Order: sequence, then C-alpha cells, then structure tokens
Amino acid sequence: MNLRVFSSEKEAAEACAARLAEAVRLQPDLVLGLPTGRTPLNVYRELVALTRRGGLDLSRVVTFNLDEFLGLPPEDAGSFRAYMERHLFHHVNLAPERIHFLDGSAEDAEAECARYDAALAAAGGLDLLLLGIGPNGHIAFNEPGESLVASCHRARLSRETRLANAMLFGDDPSRVPMAALTLGVSSILQARRVVLLAFGASKAAAVTAMLHGPVTPHCPASFLQLHRDVEVWLDEPAARGVRHHRPR
Ligand code: GLP
Repeated sequence: MNLRVFSSEKEAAEACAARLAEAVRLQPDLVLGLPTGRTPLNVYRELVALTRRGGLDLSRVVTFNLDEFLGLPPEDAGSFRAYMERHLFHHVNLAPERIHFLDGSAEDAEAECARYDAALAAAGGLDLLLLGIGPNGHIAFNEPGESLVASCHRARLSRETRLANAMLFGDDPSRVPMAALTLGVSSILQARRVVLLAFGASKAAAVTAMLHGPVTPHCPASFLQLHRDVEVWLDEPAARGVRHHRPR
C-alpha cells in the first residue's frame, strides 16, 4: 500500500479533492465510490468549492455510496443519503439519475442488496473508491468478525460503530440503528483504485493493524493489503504506529 502522511487533515483533504478532480478531468464518466462519516467532510467541502470556482464538472460522473442505515428512509435526517445531500449532492452538478444509493427503508433488504450489486456491475464496477476506516478497522459497514461477506449485505453494527456514528443522531448512540446495508468486501477489492483517508489518534491502531497486521476478518481493512492500487493518506496522529514513519 502506498502511504502518504500529511502535516494536517486540511492538507490531505485538499490533495484528495485535487486527485478526484484530476481523475474526473481524465475520465468524465468516472464511477466513484463514496463514504460518509467525519473523515471525508473536508474533501466534500473542497469539491463544492472547486465546483463553485468552475474547476470541476461532475455532470457525467456516476456515484455509488458505500452503505446506509437499515430502517431509515432517504429523507430521514440521520440517513447517509441526507448526509450526502447536505455535504455534497445539493451543491454540485451530479446528475440525480447517476447517483446510486442503498435504500435503508426497502421492505426486502436482500432484494435491495441484490439490486445494488447488479447496478454496480452494470456500471462496470468502481473506477475510484474513496474510503474511510472505522476505529475498529471496519470499511464501509463490513465489521470485524470471524468472517466477511463478499457481496452487498445486511450488517449488524457493533456498539463501537454505533457510538462512532452518534453524531448523526444528536450524539445519542441509542438512536443509531442496529443494522445497515453495505457493499461487501468483494466490490471494495474490485475497485480499480482506492484512496483511504484516516485522521486523528483514534484511527492509529486500526491503521497500524491494516498496514502491518495479518490479513484477517478481525480487521476488515487488512484485506486492502491484497489490492494492487491503494493509497493510504494520513495525518500525523493517525500515522503514529506506522513503521518507518518518522514524525516531522
Ligand atoms: C462509518 C462508515 C464508514 C466510515 C467509518 C469512519 O461507520 N460506515 O464508511 O468510513 O464509519 O467514520 P468517521 O470518518 O466518522 O470516523
């Protein structure tokens, strides 16, 4: 995995937005995988700023978000769809029909997952995937455990993950749904390029396990070691446990 350590989160986010903008310039119909959470917020802010300055045209880009809470309709303020509307979709020129999202309120979760995997396959898979990482090493909502699921599926969320997502629910972890729908590890590993961002000391242990630990379902992000084109972009606190990294 290709590692870069930035002096600040802001610097990393700007570089990441510039990387995305360049990828879109080279391939205007790029299929882009998008995460939610705190980590990509500055990247989305930067993409909005680039759009406003006329430096980014997303009109032909296709997006697939990674995951959605189970039981929440898209218009629920706590849903990832609402988060994406607030922070990105509403402010850029993505075509609504090119935005793909899991519907957490679908009656038949299995059918919804099959629909999503089929839509991603029809789009040709992800050209570029922006990823965050959970403090427990999860990617999307592929949680640590005895095994991982390759395809899109319903995932039970750990207490730690519900805690980490409480900000969307008035900082009340008990209001965070118990389960979610998520792309599986196979779609993530089949993305042609991956850029994973991690900021802050709370991510240091997960980052160390991802980079230096064994490939194991107990750290889902460790499977990225098997991918040939992954960039890991960190700030100094998240890079604390990284071998051969000398803090500036
Ligand atoms: C959430 C999302 C992930 C995200 C991760 C980190 O649960 N499902 O896609 O990468 O947790 O979140 P944050 O960036 O807020 O630390």
